[in-house]
Amino acid sequence: MIYLDNSATTFPKPRIVMNAVNNAMVNFGANPGRGGHKLALRASQLMFDARSAVMRFFKARDENSVIFTGNCTHACNMVLKGILKSGDHAVVSCLEHNAVMRPLEKLSHNGVTYTAAAVYPGDNDRTLDSFRKAINRNTKLIFCTQASNVWGIRLPVERITALAHQYGIPVAVDAAQSAGVVDIDLADSGIDFLCCAGHKGLYGPMGTGLLIFNTDISLDTIVEGGTGSNSYSLEQPEILPDRFESGTQNLPGIAGLKAGVEFVMRRRTDNIFSSEMNHMQYLYDNLMRIKGVKLYTARPDKFYCVPVLSFNIDGADSETVSSLLDDFGIAVRAGLHCAPRAHEFMGTLDGGVVRISPSIYTTRGDIDHVILSVSKIAYNLSKR
Ligand code: ALA
Repeated sequence: MIYLDNSATTFPKPRIVMNAVNNAMVNFGANPGRGGHKLALRASQLMFDARSAVMRFFKARDENSVIFTGNCTHACNMVLKGILKSGDHAVVSCLEHNAVMRPLEKLSHNGVTYTAAAVYPGDNDRTLDSFRKAINRNTKLIFCTQASNVWGIRLPVERITALAHQYGIPVAVDAAQSAGVVDIDLADSGIDFLCCAGHKGLYGPMGTGLLIFNTDISLDTIVEGGTGSNSYSLEQPEILPDRFESGTQNLPGIAGLKAGVEFVMRRRTDNIFSSEMNHMQYLYDNLMRIKGVKLYTARPDKFYCVPVLSFNIDGADSETVSSLLDDFGIAVRAGLHCAPRAHEFMGTLDGGVVRISPSIYTTRGDIDHVILSVSKIAYNLSKR
């Protein structure tokens, strides 16, 4: 099978990630931070080493600013619900995933308002201007995706943070599709809160995510409970990471995430990005030539995009095309990709699109097989 649904989760995972999960289960099987015995201390050390790897990868402030979460959605919820109160306003982009839109919509039932700023692919000045216009005196947070999970369109997050900071507004970034593919330097970018999936471009197991604090701003908690620290107190601790890591952590998953981050560090983000982007440009150039294929975006560009490409074929809806591709041994995701606003933006809300998302393991041969299969499907549909 040719797996090209890596924006949903990367597959396969590197062997060292699988080994790390297994090793944690076999050799580190105690509860980290919950006991003074040797096995618990080893488990705590593993958690710390994982935080340290993440800290180095993103140039985060320190290990304690790295919070392990269940996924990127969890991290997005923690920031949105931890900051926004009744009367507050937030700015998001018009390309946000439901990981941001649904919590925001829920908050809007409790007096929070928000504005979705328009994005202009290929024109960052205009995009920035629309963020500027969306800010009002009640704006307490800007939350934007670094790259659309449907269109691969990349937002100028460093410029957005510079703008927001002029107004004293913190910025949270949804890096679900960009972490591990695009260089993210927290020491430089101005991002205040970084939300990541652990199981996509970082090649960790599913059920892992990250919230990284690059600010002194604290958040209200959405979950409270045992942290293994200050147990005499019924109040949730203030210190990081304990404040946001109540309950037993996913140590095998975190061990896998550590191995995934180290894998990406060795392979280097710029190499991963170039290889995947070359595949998407080659795919785009060939799909463009196939009669009946509809492409929605400009040719994937190294500055304005991440490597994700979506399309449709005349004569069938996206789910049908995905299922026909499955018959050719190609796994892709069709439909709305949990991002209805991104589809509204492109006018594809009715029926969605077929999305191709590569990984480090994608080869030119895989893409050639996609091109051939799409051309056969398009030809067959045109004869109906
Ligand atoms: N948000 C993930 C995707 O885009 C699951 O498929």
